[in-house]
Amino acid sequence: MRWDGSFWVLGLAILATCVGATGLAAQLPDDLDELSDAALYEAACANCHGQDGRGLDRALVGFEEALPDFTDCDFAAREPESDWIAIGHEGGPVRGFSMMMPAFGEALSVEQVARVVRHIKSLCTDPSWPRGKLNLPRALLAEKAFPEDEWVTEVGASLDGDGAVDGAFVWEQRFGPRSQLEVVIPYGWAELPDAGGGAGATDWVSGFGDLVLGVKHTFYHSSEAGRIFALGAEVVLPTGDETKGLGADGTKAEAFASFGQILPSDAFVQVQLGGEKPFYDGGENEAFARVVLGRTFTSGRWGRSWTPMVELQAKRELEGGVPTPLDIVPQMQFSLNTRQHVLGNIGVLIPATETSGRSARLLAYVLLDWFDGGFFEGW
Ligand code: HEC
Repeated sequence: MRWDGSFWVLGLAILATCVGATGLAAQLPDDLDELSDAALYEAACANCHGQDGRGLDRALVGFEEALPDFTDCDFAAREPESDWIAIGHEGGPVRGFSMMMPAFGEALSVEQVARVVRHIKSLCTDPSWPRGKLNLPRALLAEKAFPEDEWVTEVGASLDGDGAVDGAFVWEQRFGPRSQLEVVIPYGWAELPDAGGGAGATDWVSGFGDLVLGVKHTFYHSSEAGRIFALGAEVVLPTGDETKGLGADGTKAEAFASFGQILPSDAFVQVQLGGEKPFYDGGENEAFARVVLGRTFTSGRWGRSWTPMVELQAKRELEGGVPTPLDIVPQMQFSLNTRQHVLGNIGVLIPATETSGRSARLLAYVLLDWFDGGFFEGW
């Protein structure tokens, strides 16, 4: 055990807690409401975060935690204001950060913390970075318009009859303010007739599916209008085993448009429209549309977030005369940890039209926003 370091950190943490409860208010000027956002920040936060928002040197603040750089748009633009207001009001631990980030709830009103956060948010001066509040909850099927740094593990299973479980590992990596690369590695288990067995005998097979490589770019975003729009393209490579039902005959290309709009009272709508073109004999051109309507709720004022959503999906082959199957997917996304960068979503895909031969499917994912920390951080 490193006694020296731990001792001081413990001492300072206790001090910070005591100061948080009583001293912070005493240190601040009386006329808080007269101060500009910037002056309020200087009075309350600059002692640690620095006048310019880049964070004072560790040697000056006397604790080990590195201070964030609020002028770094790559970091600052993506964090939703609501999370920062929670941290300013309740202290670092409310989002799984260090208690060296004190709680200002006794010293500042929520409105005053919101004004300070507005100032911090203005320190990223490059408008090309879409703001974190436009990062709407991820639905089970529709691709969203916000560029992400994420790991998603998806799984799906049919609820009756034909035993089949499938899913995918999805890796999303941002580059620049508005672009994103994506790699999807699907996998599956299927129950197929066993050629060697007797009548009705089946055998479980498993394997990887068709690898997907994609790019996405956000062409429009406005935090005032609460609106974001992106275009994306993907190639689907025939890496999966077609005889096991885990892949297609050849390469396919997909293009899509994604749109998100924030609505009043933490509600939102997302739309994805796209098409798929196969480059092999016998493949059919396909078009799809997905619409998601949802609303986020919070447990208590600062706690876990819950987002019930309803997603509608229509998918059809473009050849004339074929019907358009419609699916409805009620689902619930929820944060799993305190930092809220590990999220889960679970729902059921219910065939609404053309139901014969199509069974209901359970769909779920676990998502890690890896920019905000590793899987085991912030619980
Ligand atoms: C006593 C020093 C100190 C003061 C004063 C202070 N902070 Fe902090 N703050 C920290 C530390 C340390 C961290 C980093 C915590 C971590 O990484 O675990 C931090 C982190 C943060 C974060 C989290 C950023 C992220 O990573 O998402 C926000 C937001 C924040 N502070 C806002 C404020 C606001 C607003 C004020 C003034 C009202 C303020 N801080 C005052 C020490 C301080």
